[in-house]
Amino acid sequence: QRGDYAHYMLKEIHEQSQAVADTLEGRIAGGKVLTQIFGVEAEQLLAATQAVHIIACGTSYHAGLVARYWIEQLAGVPCTTEIASEYRYRDPVVREGTLFLTISQSGETADTLAALKLAKQMPYLAQLAVCNVPESSIVRESSLVLMTRAGPEIGVASTKAFTTQLVALALFALALGRVKGLDDARYADGVRQLEQLPGLIVETLKLDAEIKTLAERFTDKHHALFLGRGTHWPVAMEGALKLKEISYIHAEAYAAGELKHGPLALVDEDMPVIAVAPNDRLIDKLKSNLEEVRARGGQLYAFVDETVAHGLDAAHVVILPAAGEIAAPVISTLPLQLLSYHVAVLRGTDVDQPRNLAKSVTVE
Ligand code: F6R
Repeated sequence: QRGDYAHYMLKEIHEQSQAVADTLEGRIAGGKVLTQIFGVEAEQLLAATQAVHIIACGTSYHAGLVARYWIEQLAGVPCTTEIASEYRYRDPVVREGTLFLTISQSGETADTLAALKLAKQMPYLAQLAVCNVPESSIVRESSLVLMTRAGPEIGVASTKAFTTQLVALALFALALGRVKGLDDARYADGVRQLEQLPGLIVETLKLDAEIKTLAERFTDKHHALFLGRGTHWPVAMEGALKLKEISYIHAEAYAAGELKHGPLALVDEDMPVIAVAPNDRLIDKLKSNLEEVRARGGQLYAFVDETVAHGLDAAHVVILPAAGEIAAPVISTLPLQLLSYHVAVLRGTDVDQPRNLAKSVTVE
């Protein structure tokens, strides 16, 4: 059922507006996130939450890294995000009032499931799952569930599952923020950004043709460096993961501030550097990191909104629609998905079934 699309991945990229709208359906009313979507006793649970432990793998882990910024910024609640395979073998210490949160598309990932089972023996407040498969093991084992409604994801490289996870996690961060005294204006703005997201996704995906042209510059590359700051650091990580998974080009993501602590040594004219830089409070810092790249002859590709593009000295600038703190990580992810897709198609790899990978990793 790929329809007119050449690959499931491309179809799923284009389904994101609908998938996000479905994930928001019935969860916001009157400009507010409905707290009962987190269970009948959600109000008390959120009030009691003093910390959050997020556990996931791969792309779902990247969604959890974005959520960490949101939870701390909007709710003022300490949050850590960790890879399930590390968490389960490190004797984690749980403070009173900690909520355990797993993120999984399939709900069957062995490490995430094992971490959840371990967590159930520890004094967590509750185990909340953000998951895409209702009848999955992770859903069954969790005390609370917030489903993403991405629909079946066939392409091995996760796309719509990731963006719907971000939306579900934003709902959580805003609901927690509300209980923890987030100011009204910022709360209302966050909710509004979510409501406007489906439309903004449609608009952003119109960049497809431009990004397809850009992709030609990557086909003969062996490496790529992705940079971001704040919530866009995990977005950069997700961009790098997509590129390596389906095009087999070695890609790494760095928090831009780390550049001169090592990776800058790699930058030369053969190293494309991809910066994801929406207009936020870190933009000036990021711009100075980009100058360092330019000065070393690196080819710079910047995905920015128009307010930032002005005065940016990059070889290739892709202008994204302006988006706020909640919408921007979702919007910035889309061109990176398209870039990996087109690079992979040009390189002739098996886009939907990359070598050595399985859709659901049910073994350790
Ligand atoms: C990457 C990808 C994987 C999964 C990871 C976790 O595109 O799909 O990294 O994100 O295997 O899978 P789930 O979310 O099913 O637990």
